[in-house]
Amino acid sequence: MFIQPASLTAMAQFFISTVIQPGDFVIDATVGNGNDTLFLAEQVGSSGEVLGFDVQSAALNHTQKFLAEKNYHQVKLVEKSHTCLDQYTIKPVKAVMFNLGYLPGKNSSIVTQKQSSIQALEKSLLALKPGGMITVIAYRSHPGGEEEYQAILTKVNQLDERQVKVIQYHFPNSRKVSPVLFVLIKN
Ligand SMILES: C[S@@+](CC[C@H](N)C(=O)[O-])C[C@H]1O[C@@H](n2cnc3c(N)ncnc32)[C@H](O)[C@@H]1O
Repeated sequence: MFIQPASLTAMAQFFISTVIQPGDFVIDATVGNGNDTLFLAEQVGSSGEVLGFDVQSAALNHTQKFLAEKNYHQVKLVEKSHTCLDQYTIKPVKAVMFNLGYLPGKNSSIVTQKQSSIQALEKSLLALKPGGMITVIAYRSHPGGEEEYQAILTKVNQLDERQVKVIQYHFPNSRKVSPVLFVLIKN
């Protein structure tokens, strides 16, 4: 497997691939165009389950269509905020992926918000199995992005390292404001 270390989305998938297996129950908290949803469906296979959330019906319709074309029927997409994930999580979850911000090229006013992102992160931690993993990519350049990133950073700094290990992955010498990947591993 070739991994692109300079791509945070590729690195998020790489970290997740180290913990999930066929048959697992996993969540894409921000479906968008479905790249992570497709990756999760491939990883958990037909015996696994993927739950996906997004508040944009157009994005979900697009993703639903291409998943059906690929015969991935183990995916349930929900047109609701990821803050509702506890209502759909009937068993422990092995992995949750968050790719925050807005869908590039689409309506940038439909964007994740710090309060709901924190709430969904807290619910994900509660739903996560021991040995499970959460990835969060936070973008900092758009309006509200820096505040959302700071809220995530504050939240992960408060977690007890005996319960959750946290990795922060970013590009400190970037000429632009670097997005940040957080990886949380539940003990
Ligand atoms: C950066 S995009 C996700 C990209 C996606 N992972 C992909 O592969 O295309 C962020 C997505 O979060 C969605 N979003 C915004 N607020 C949300 C919320 N409260 N709950 C779930 N999704 C939300 C947006 O509609 C957008 O599609």
